[in-house]
Amino acid sequence: MAHQTSPSAGLPMRGVAQPSREEVIDLPGVYISRHPVIMHKLTALRDRHTPPPEFYRLVRELGTLLAYEATADLELVPAHIETPLEPMEGARLAGGVGIVPILRAGLGLAEGFRHVLPDAQIWHLGLRRDEHTLEPIEYYNQLARAVNLQVCFSVDPMLATGGSAIDALHTLTRYGVPHLRYVGLIAAPYGLLKLREAFPDVPIFVGAVDDRGYICPGLGDAGDRQFGTL
Ligand code: PRP
Ligand code: URA
Repeated sequence: MAHQTSPSAGLPMRGVAQPSREEVIDLPGVYISRHPVIMHKLTALRDRHTPPPEFYRLVRELGTLLAYEATADLELVPAHIETPLEPMEGARLAGGVGIVPILRAGLGLAEGFRHVLPDAQIWHLGLRRDEHTLEPIEYYNQLARAVNLQVCFSVDPMLATGGSAIDALHTLTRYGVPHLRYVGLIAAPYGLLKLREAFPDVPIFVGAVDDRGYICPGLGDAGDRQFGTL
C-alpha cells in the first residue's frame, strides 16, 4: 500500500496507508458500474451546489439503477399464468429479497431499490461512527430472524474506511441472513479493500471508486446532504 500525503486526502484518513484506485478496481467480486446514466447522476450528486431535495431524489434514482444492475443474475422459477389471450410459462423470482438500509444515509438508496423490488422486506440497521475512533456504533436494529431469502442487499451510499459496512455484514451474518450483497454509490480504495478482505464472498456493487481517503473527491456527508442537516 502506498502512503497518501496529499493534504486534501480527507482528514480522518490522513497518514493512513491506502491502496491506489488501480490496486482495487479489479478485485474479485467487485462490480463498478459503467452505466453512463449512473455516471451522469453521480456527477450531479457530487456537485456542491445540489440542494438536499434534489440530492435525495438523485440517491433514490441511483438506488433504482444500481438495484437493476445488482439483481441481473437473480434466479427464477417457472410460473404458469394466463395472459388475456392464452396460457403461458412465465418466470418469477425464486425466493424473497431483503434490503438493509444502513441509517441514515442508506434510506434513499433503499427507497430506490423498492421501486424495482416492491415486495422486498426492509430491515433497518442504525450505525453511526464515533467521531474520534471512526468505529461504528449500533443504535437501532430491526432485523428479522425468519429468513427465506434469495438475496439480501446491505445498502449504504458511502464506503469510506469500510467499518460500517463490515460491521453491518457481521451483524447480518450473526442473524443468519444468507446470500448477502453490498451496494453503495461511492467507495474509497481503502474501504473497498477492507470489505473485500473481511467478506471475500460477498459481491460488492458500487457506482464509482474514488481516488483516496475519506472520500475524495467524494460528495461530502451523504446523510447530511440527503436530510438537510448541513
Ligand atoms: C456514513 C455513510 C456510511 C459511513 C461510511 O454514515 O453513510 O454509513 O459513513 O463510513 P465508513 O466506511 O468509514 O464506516 P455516518 O456514520 O456519517 O452516518 P449517517 O448515515 O447517519 O450520516
Ligand atoms: N461518509 C460520508 O457520508 N461521506 C464520506 O465522504 C465519508 C463517510
